[in-house]
Amino acid sequence: MDTLTSNKTNTQQDTFPINGTDHIEFYVGNAKQAAHYYQTAFGFELVAYRGPETGTRDTASYVLQQGKIRFVLTSAMHPDHEVSRHILQHGDGVKVLALWVDDATEAFNKAVERGAKPCKAPVTMEDSYGQVTVASIHTYGETLHTFVERSQYDGPFLPGFQARKSLMKTQPIGLKYVDHCVGNVELGRMNEWVKFYQDVMGFKLLVTFDDKDISTDYTALMSKVVSNGNGYIKFPINEPAAGKKKSQIEEYLDYYHGAGVQHIAVATDDIIFTVDELRRRGVEFLYVPETYYDSVPERVGEIKEELDELKRLNILVDRDEEGYLLQIFTKPVQDRPTVFYEIIQREGARSFGKGNFKALFEAIEREQELRGTL
Ligand code: FE2
Repeated sequence: MDTLTSNKTNTQQDTFPINGTDHIEFYVGNAKQAAHYYQTAFGFELVAYRGPETGTRDTASYVLQQGKIRFVLTSAMHPDHEVSRHILQHGDGVKVLALWVDDATEAFNKAVERGAKPCKAPVTMEDSYGQVTVASIHTYGETLHTFVERSQYDGPFLPGFQARKSLMKTQPIGLKYVDHCVGNVELGRMNEWVKFYQDVMGFKLLVTFDDKDISTDYTALMSKVVSNGNGYIKFPINEPAAGKKKSQIEEYLDYYHGAGVQHIAVATDDIIFTVDELRRRGVEFLYVPETYYDSVPERVGEIKEELDELKRLNILVDRDEEGYLLQIFTKPVQDRPTVFYEIIQREGARSFGKGNFKALFEAIEREQELRGTL
């Protein structure tokens, strides 16, 4: 599954080729109910399941799919299980950013050779649909990258999972692929993790934002974006910067109790439809004031979408040299102010909405204020 169509192809410096995001696995307190939320609110289709009924006694996992996006939701049956310990510390959160590779053994060996901390050595699993090889390395916090080699497999997900369908008729909302996944890391550690992606994975540094780009009257953060050669994998890495008050990154680190995935950006070709549906289904978004739209025509120029529609749905818009993009951010999707989603529609632009940073961070600060964490 590729995650982004990029016209720039430069895989020369990749340590190993990556075809795209294979899946994203969340450890959650109640996978059964979380799976219902992603089906009803986000329009994902249930495609596979593994749990006690399929012979796995200690965990239950639900695999959900929409477009090329595949989420896995996992809960544990016992308090002393690693999944339970992870949830106790971090709350619901992203455990695995899995990468689709041609050769998982080679990817693992090369990554470890170049300094990655190994988690699980390559193992080949088999069932009647064929075989899959997986291997894992550690990245920031307790997050893992799992390499998935599935060219010899045509089952619903991985060996051990059984096909399962949604019980209700799901209504997809036009989500296509994972555009980028953002990590929040501890103060002073952004460069270390950027270097990890450069040295270990052969990623290149795409763009740097400093506190002059990303600051409000109160808080600041720094961000660097790394990408693989074909551009299908983009990982922005944030760290807090000194401000008058506590930054949103510090708030995340306090509540996640460590570094972890902050947001997942998912792409749509029709953000007006996607956001209209999400709002109708009760998904909460950050709010930017109406005055934001006063400067849009001058700042962004001509766009296909009606400004009134964007205003009605509170969708943000930005332009770069290559085109424009439309984006909006949900509020956190669990009680802790940690993981949230970005919905993005790219009309040529390959950047990240720098022109929206100020409005966005002020919106987050209003939420922080309500939580008493600013
Ligand atoms: Fe983003």
